[in-house]
Amino acid sequence: MLAKVAFLVVLAGHRAAGEPTSTTTLTVTPATLTKSTQSITIRWSNLPSPSPLDYVAVYSPPTSSDLDYLGFLFLNASVSWATGAGSLRLPRLPDLRAPYQFRLFRWPPGELSKNPRVDQDGDPLPDATHRAAVSGNVSYEGAGARPTQLHLAFADEVNQMRVLFVCGDDGRRSVRYGLAGRSEEEWKEVPAEARTYEQGQMCGYPANDSVGWRHPGFVFDGVMKGLNPGRNYSYKVGSDSGALGARPAFISHIGDISYARGNSWLWDNFFEQIEPIASNTPYHVCIGNHEYDWPLQPWKPSWAANIYNGKDGGGECGVPYSIKFRMPGNSSFPTGTGAPDTQNLYYSFDVGVVHFVYMSTETDFSHGSDQYKFIKDDLEHVNHSRTPFIVFQGHRPMYTSSNEVKDTAHREQMIQHLEPLFVKHNVTLALWGHIHRYERFCPMKNYQCLNTSSSFVYPGAPAHIVVGMAGQDYQPSWEPRHDHPDVPIFPQPERSMYRVGEFGYTKLVATRNKMTLMYIGDHDGQVHDMVEIFSQVHNNGAPDKLAGEMPQNTSLYILIAGSVMLALLLGFVAGFVVRRKRDSTRWTSVNNEES
Ligand SMILES: [Fe+2]
Repeated sequence: MLAKVAFLVVLAGHRAAGEPTSTTTLTVTPATLTKSTQSITIRWSNLPSPSPLDYVAVYSPPTSSDLDYLGFLFLNASVSWATGAGSLRLPRLPDLRAPYQFRLFRWPPGELSKNPRVDQDGDPLPDATHRAAVSGNVSYEGAGARPTQLHLAFADEVNQMRVLFVCGDDGRRSVRYGLAGRSEEEWKEVPAEARTYEQGQMCGYPANDSVGWRHPGFVFDGVMKGLNPGRNYSYKVGSDSGALGARPAFISHIGDISYARGNSWLWDNFFEQIEPIASNTPYHVCIGNHEYDWPLQPWKPSWAANIYNGKDGGGECGVPYSIKFRMPGNSSFPTGTGAPDTQNLYYSFDVGVVHFVYMSTETDFSHGSDQYKFIKDDLEHVNHSRTPFIVFQGHRPMYTSSNEVKDTAHREQMIQHLEPLFVKHNVTLALWGHIHRYERFCPMKNYQCLNTSSSFVYPGAPAHIVVGMAGQDYQPSWEPRHDHPDVPIFPQPERSMYRVGEFGYTKLVATRNKMTLMYIGDHDGQVHDMVEIFSQVHNNGAPDKLAGEMPQNTSLYILIAGSVMLALLLGFVAGFVVRRKRDSTRWTSVNNEES
């Protein structure tokens, strides 16, 4: 995985003088990348007096100044580095719609402490002052023209499906689609609209700086209409992608998505990682602090002054999130700057027997706000006979036993403003992220636990589950805080039914009588926690046989949980039944129009 390689993102940049030599060589192969390219090989030779800190930095576009590298690799990763020659292999790089260039720099150990710049772990970053060699350009075949980063999402109507993809220009593009197996002459074609954003619309560093900014290309958005649930469809946007079955019904990723935090290319990397899944399975998101928070964010009540602390979004102020995704509904919130309004904040849809609601914990959710009105109105109009279960999702948790006390006021506000709606309108389950852990609470009503079992009939308040264990780094959530004896967060409170620090994901399965949520550990693929909630309305007293209902293609889930290593929060919401029908509109193949 790219994220595991010795890639570090720089934090500052300005041009530095290079020191090219006539003897040192640097070559990178292949010079032309394709979607099937699995790795890139870097070779160098004739480097005199090598140092263990000498490194190769990666650039795109080639006009980038020396300090604006995307990442770097120390040459000492090669066993022969001390001879002044060697090779390194990189996993494939994302298609950034512009060529790559590699530059070899010397970094004498005596200069290690001269550079004041450090990465997020406090380690020194290269200062790029001694350039020894430059590679030729490495380009993607058809870069810019070829649609990339395909991902699906539910649209506003049940018989529609939206596909988004990225190109390097805003020329005419369309989406062609039709029933699988039918002649393509019978397919329909719809135009795709292009959107983008500019560097000047970023709100802070590094998003608005040369070190973080790269043009995002143009995000195309096409809506396929008139679809019949229960049928298999294919579509083409001129790109290829793997074929998958129809499970899960959709994927839910509840904020802190790519962790780009102002480094634009990481968004491209993320969308390439999820494309094998997201081009065949709708991918739904809500906003997290790392897509949004910046110092001048418009809603920052006094209690949140230290919660919305301004740096988490890396200056993106929600713009890439708003353009790169397009969720149902038309929610928006002004940025208060020159940046476009923030979108994809709150929305809902039905999938089979479940009504799903998404909120933004970063924008106003208090009584009287647009978001509050939406949530209230939405919950008031749920058809409980059609969707006996309601799953509510947002980024910052309403309940956690984490020692992250900084967000305490936020949680209290959420409980004050939103929990009464959850209780009144029978929300079954509330899923949250933000805390890098899995933690399941019992059904909660104003800090009171209504049932301590892991299998129960819905008691009138939602079970809360934090599912922030997708793969972001370690967070010492459960360690005691001896300096906070008044905060009862440790040891595990009675209302916390299960909590664990392992990476993993969750899977949700719902039938008319029962909803089951499973936590699956990445390390072994096994179910480590499970809760089943029987419908209050439709429970017939005959519990379903869970084992017979579990999907067998678990490799699909394991694949994507491993591929989204940059994500903080990944909650999988899967079901056998989809949008108001027993069977899904299925997406089983995406063909390459160009081959
Ligand atoms: Fe977060």
